[in-house]
Amino acid sequence: MLNGKVAVVTGAATGIGRGICLALARQGAKVAALDIDSANNAETAGLVQGAGGDCLPVTCDVGDRQQVRLAMALVLREFGRVDLLVNNAAFWDNSSLREGTYDSQTAQFEQAISSCTLGSFNCSSAVVPALRAAGGGNIVNLITEHVKEGHYLTGRRGLGYDCAKFAQWRLTAVLAAELKTDNIRVNGLCFGATDTPMLRGEAPDLADRAMKPEDLAQAVLNVIAHGPGGPTGETYLFGTSGTPREESVRAIAALAPAG
Ligand SMILES: NC(=O)c1ccc[n+]([C@@H]2O[C@H](COP(=O)([O-])OP(=O)(O)OC[C@H]3O[C@@H](n4cnc5c(N)ncnc54)[C@H](O)[C@@H]3O)[C@@H](O)[C@H]2O)c1
Repeated sequence: MLNGKVAVVTGAATGIGRGICLALARQGAKVAALDIDSANNAETAGLVQGAGGDCLPVTCDVGDRQQVRLAMALVLREFGRVDLLVNNAAFWDNSSLREGTYDSQTAQFEQAISSCTLGSFNCSSAVVPALRAAGGGNIVNLITEHVKEGHYLTGRRGLGYDCAKFAQWRLTAVLAAELKTDNIRVNGLCFGATDTPMLRGEAPDLADRAMKPEDLAQAVLNVIAHGPGGPTGETYLFGTSGTPREESVRAIAALAPAG
């Protein structure tokens, strides 16, 4: 499905990002894997290459606009085009004002906003000229169920994370409208517990019955499978925390074009 296409995946060193890199490469795409974690990102590239795919690991803090500019220039030099951007990088913070110090609270909040909100905007801004040059393409944002009514996070943790995700959710709608005439579709995935290092760090009790990274990779494939003229500006809700994995997998299958 993706022979001759090039994808950029952020937060590719582990978890869902790694699963997406593997799935896109399996479909024939060349993959640029961006992450701040060079060691694990090199491991992702090794896994993709070991499975016969083409993967360029790029060390990049997506919240740093100069690093993003250089990373995208490198991707274009190596692969010559970009057809798909997956904004997946995020940092789960603890910026509760009931714990820690001014320095720890503000640093955590800043890191969450930087990795997710700034990261999604910086990467979109850097990649859109290449998507236009390719005649169109896709941006898929990995959001969270927390932005949907009835699924808001309560409690003390993840305040910066959720603020960053609300901004990413809004960005999805606005960029979709703005880029529609360029044949660039922008969609988001709003989902719950998925078995990754992030979840095992925060809610290990949920991890065993949660979705797996390959399920989210399939969701990305199903969203982009609609091709030019497919839905844009959607923020699909599925796989909310506590849903049995089989049911989530069925909801993901329903994201694919009919037939
Ligand atoms: N795991 C879940 O249960 C779950 C649920 C809902 C949404 N999500 C979303 O899915 C996405 C992936 O989550 P995950 O569980 O795989 O996370 P993870 O923490 O396992 O992996 C996140 C990756 O992002 C990278 N990263 C963080 N900040 C970065 C930055 N500034 N620049 C570049 N890379 C950076 C990390 O190094 C890491 O490799 C995230 O957007 C997350 O919010 C996850």
